[in-house]
Amino acid sequence: MNKTRSPIVQALLAEISTFDEAAAYRRMLPAGCYTEPEFFAFEQAEVFSRTWICVGRVEQVAERGDCFSWEVAGEPILVTRGEDGEVHALSAICRHRGEIIPCPEKGRALRCPLHFWTYDMQGRLAGAPRMGDAAAIATLRETVRLTQLRVELWHGFIFVNLDPDAKPLGPSLAKLEPLWAGYEATGVIDVPPAMSDTPLPWNWKVQVENFTDAYHPEFVHHGTHDFAPSIMPGDGVRFTDMKPGDNAIVRSVPMKTPDGGMMKDGWGPDAAFPAIATLTPEQRSRVTFAMLPPGMTMMFAPGTIAYTLIRPAGVTATYAGSDRVTYGGWLLPRSTIDLPDFRDRCAAVREGGSKIWAQDVPVNVGMQAAKNSRYLPEGIYGSLETTLQQFNVWLLEAYKRADQATR
Ligand code: FES
Ligand SMILES: [Fe+2]
Repeated sequence: MNKTRSPIVQALLAEISTFDEAAAYRRMLPAGCYTEPEFFAFEQAEVFSRTWICVGRVEQVAERGDCFSWEVAGEPILVTRGEDGEVHALSAICRHRGEIIPCPEKGRALRCPLHFWTYDMQGRLAGAPRMGDAAAIATLRETVRLTQLRVELWHGFIFVNLDPDAKPLGPSLAKLEPLWAGYEATGVIDVPPAMSDTPLPWNWKVQVENFTDAYHPEFVHHGTHDFAPSIMPGDGVRFTDMKPGDNAIVRSVPMKTPDGGMMKDGWGPDAAFPAIATLTPEQRSRVTFAMLPPGMTMMFAPGTIAYTLIRPAGVTATYAGSDRVTYGGWLLPRSTIDLPDFRDRCAAVREGGSKIWAQDVPVNVGMQAAKNSRYLPEGIYGSLETTLQQFNVWLLEAYKRADQATR
């Protein structure tokens, strides 16, 4: 065990190291994984810093010089469209003495607010006032550059990985590829999510477990989710296998009639976002929920792909942005965006999503609070909880990988 780790983290990792995959299918992770600030710091350093994190969409940096700020594993980053036309992810930490650099106004260079060192959109030093004569500045310009981070684009989503040795993202999401064709045949446009400005008061794992749980909708979402049930005569939830290296945990559920979607009272037959004609009949009759751990969830529905970005800020403080918490996070065809009553339709989707969300909030609060109980069970999983077990295995692998890497 790594000697620099806190005793709390060491004890939790020791407990987890007794789990094999079968144990992860049988029981929940120790409560401390959800409650200990030190374990959260370990996750940030070893899980969020070594996995691909979705930070936004290419539309946000459509033109050269565009920039947005984000945070990955607590690190401030800048996502830019460089002079070379490519998307870049840069550490926002100035190479002079480490101030945090914000995004500039459009058309301006990146400029550190402290001593006004400037950088181009690819992070190369452009100017360093009063740092010497032209030759000295020239030397600095040749050698100083904001730290470049790994970037991969996936269907217009920008993913960043702080680990320079990380395996490529694309193959790990292969099982989602067949879902895209029908949406891309029409062409979809991003309506970006607004991030919540107040963190949700639970651990990031509670957030994604709630998302992926096929067992609870029948009970928690009575009235709002009955149209897309996990159990239906002759049909029901379908899970997918998890192969080593997979980074998508997927389930799909049928709808009672095709072409349904989100309405103002939840899932229903008259979707506010009309069904996309180029989708397969199968896609027009099911909703697919995909978790891309640790930082993203997606819903592939007949009328839209809705996504959520999750950014933990503390062990029980989780920022999220999408229709489940805030407005947006929708990929939509132009034909939908051009509808004269598009705003009303967005409002209906938001209303339906927030009714579902309002049902989830108290159970998430309860799940988080119970992690402090001395009576917390190890858990008993049923057949509708396959995705939760798959997430356990994913976490177990991530924790063990981190533990072994630093022994
Ligand atoms: S710290 Fe950035 S210019 Fe000095
Ligand atoms: Fe829910």
